[in-house]
Amino acid sequence: MTRVLVLNGPNLGRLGSREPDVYGHQDLDALRQLLETNAPDGFDVDVRQTDDESELIGWLHAAVDARTPVILNPAAFTHYSYGLRDAAALVTKAGVPLIEVHISNPHARETFRHTSVISGIATGVIAGFGFDGYRLALDHLSRISTTL
Ligand code: DQA
Repeated sequence: MTRVLVLNGPNLGRLGSREPDVYGHQDLDALRQLLETNAPDGFDVDVRQTDDESELIGWLHAAVDARTPVILNPAAFTHYSYGLRDAAALVTKAGVPLIEVHISNPHARETFRHTSVISGIATGVIAGFGFDGYRLALDHLSRISTTL
């Protein structure tokens, strides 16, 4: 089994009620169910969310140590957290994929969302496709599964 960590940052626990015009009407449990139900063969998906930067960094450290691929929606931390960026860099510098995902397209929104301090060290970035972005990221990981 290939384990994949799907990590979600601050305020994503409020999906469903938070700005549904931007993020849709489905909540985090619906995302978890979608990804678990549609996990590629041989993949075990672990969906987590936290509002706490230090907890998110701890999960990335554990991903480095266990060489677990990561799908990361850093939420607002995307735009300013150098601590998170450095932790994410530990993952990709170890040769473990880390895919940055955004439900919305930050580039089509406020100017402060146009900057990502994560993208420069991410393996790749998917944005603007709603929950489908996570599935696209999983699909990519399944395509490269022989290298994981
Ligand atoms: C987000 C975009 C961020 O700008 C925002 O702060 C979020 C969610 C997205 O998934 O579209 O919380 O990462």
